[in-house]
Amino acid sequence: MNIMKAKIGIIYATVDGQTLKISKVLQEELFKKGNQVEIYSIKNFNKKITNFDKLIIGSSIRYGVHHKKIIDFINTNKNKLDTIKTAFFSVNLVARKPEKQTPTTNPYVVKFFKTITWKPTIVEVFAGKLDYKKYPFFDRIMIQFIMWMTKGPTNKNVEIEYTNWNKVTKFGKILHNL
Ligand SMILES: Cc1cc2nc3c(=O)[nH]c(=O)nc-3n(C[C@H](O)[C@H](O)[C@H](O)COP(=O)(O)O)c2cc1C
Repeated sequence: MNIMKAKIGIIYATVDGQTLKISKVLQEELFKKGNQVEIYSIKNFNKKITNFDKLIIGSSIRYGVHHKKIIDFINTNKNKLDTIKTAFFSVNLVARKPEKQTPTTNPYVVKFFKTITWKPTIVEVFAGKLDYKKYPFFDRIMIQFIMWMTKGPTNKNVEIEYTNWNKVTKFGKILHNL
């Protein structure tokens, strides 16, 4: 395989767009390195997995779990995924805490890989975005509660992007060299 011109797919699941935003930065980074990069929502991915040299799967966390469609996709296609280079990244707010932002210290990622048998070539975790104004009432109350429990901001006007973009571009470089 010519590493300079790998065919790479990025599949994402998002609710408010942060996982897509991260996916687009990864796409740009990989594109700059000469790769052919296609990006798909999990909702409409219908390509043959083995047509890709590398597949990157990203999902945000909602109420403690990754998106069901992503989990189903991984479980259904595990054998095919095992034949190519793969990456998984999780996006959540707990990862804003320095002690919870690696694949071995982020509770959602640790738990996730205990419930599935797939082992991607590489795993990463990114802190997401907190934007109370976007959330429906019930969700806002729940997130305010989670934030209060974890000593985060609870003011309903708060909008903070915790994503570390340097970490995202570094991950892009690692993905290129996989
Ligand atoms: C309804 C809802 C539930 C969430 N649940 C969690 C959670 O359990 N743990 C966590 O760390 N972050 C949680 N988050 C934060 C999201 O993971 C974070 O905002 C992320 O940036 C969302 O990415 P997305 O826009 O790609 O969906 C939640 C956000 C919402 C709106």
